[in-house]
Amino acid sequence: KHVAVLMGGWSVEREVSLNSGAGCAAALERAGFRVTRVDVQRDIAAVLEKLRPDVAFNGLHGRFGEDGTIQGMLEIMGIPYTHSGVLASALAIRKDKAKMVVAAAGVPVAHGVNVTRFEAAKRHALPPPYVLKPIDEGSSVGVVIVKKGREHPPQEIARPDWPCGDLLLAETFIAGRELTCAVMDGKSLGVTEIRAATGEFYDYDAKYAKGGSIHICPAQILPNIYQRIEECALTAHQAIGCRGVSRSDFRYDDETDTLVWLEVNTQPGMTETSLVPELAAHAGMNFSELVTWMVEDASL
Ligand code: DAL
Ligand code: MG
Repeated sequence: KHVAVLMGGWSVEREVSLNSGAGCAAALERAGFRVTRVDVQRDIAAVLEKLRPDVAFNGLHGRFGEDGTIQGMLEIMGIPYTHSGVLASALAIRKDKAKMVVAAAGVPVAHGVNVTRFEAAKRHALPPPYVLKPIDEGSSVGVVIVKKGREHPPQEIARPDWPCGDLLLAETFIAGRELTCAVMDGKSLGVTEIRAATGEFYDYDAKYAKGGSIHICPAQILPNIYQRIEECALTAHQAIGCRGVSRSDFRYDDETDTLVWLEVNTQPGMTETSLVPELAAHAGMNFSELVTWMVEDASL
């Protein structure tokens, strides 16, 4: 089989995607596939028309890669692709809309409101503590935590060099642990707890700098909490209509026994040391087996 690994693109997660794509391409070659690495630019349709791969392996993150647009293009071209389809991708990328659908399916979410970054810089969107995040980006780019007792809202979000869009989601901050759960083939692969080694939360540097975060896989939490997280991740995967592999992120506060679902990533990070490959290994599947399964599962 000829597999085109789509990577890069021009979202704020370009570098992350180049890493995900490189790891997946190497693993697919080890598994015996013929692989073409494709750095996605605006001429992607013409490039794929020439290549005509059997499968497009989607190694993209963020805008144009995780939001339903490339998925729609692949549908029109008739090229089977990995991960979620058009609707699930478009829904999941919008954190506010995804929360509505997942909450309606019975999963607990944090209270949130939409605000523009200019409004949010003028006055507090919610009583602190709360989190401000771009409504449709990933990898914690542009995420700001506004702490309890802070008088003024953060001013960096109103700066002209702001890397993301103008619409933000303000969400009540839930103290405690950061947890994530991968779903594959309609089953949970397990739960990991993530602890930032230096910063205050699992921000961009903690995610991608060497030694920036510690993964505790499987998470050392009470079995009933572990199970609740798995159930919520499965429900979110189904409610959004995800395909293949997805990864839901959560926060859990031991003191108040509060669990909230934050979002589902339809294109979770896929470097060899990312969370999903690690959880797959925990479930008995190595990286090559994981990407092979994804290619076999690809469809239109
Ligand atoms: N958005 C990054 C790639 C993740 O969810 O893993
Ligand atoms: Mg995300």
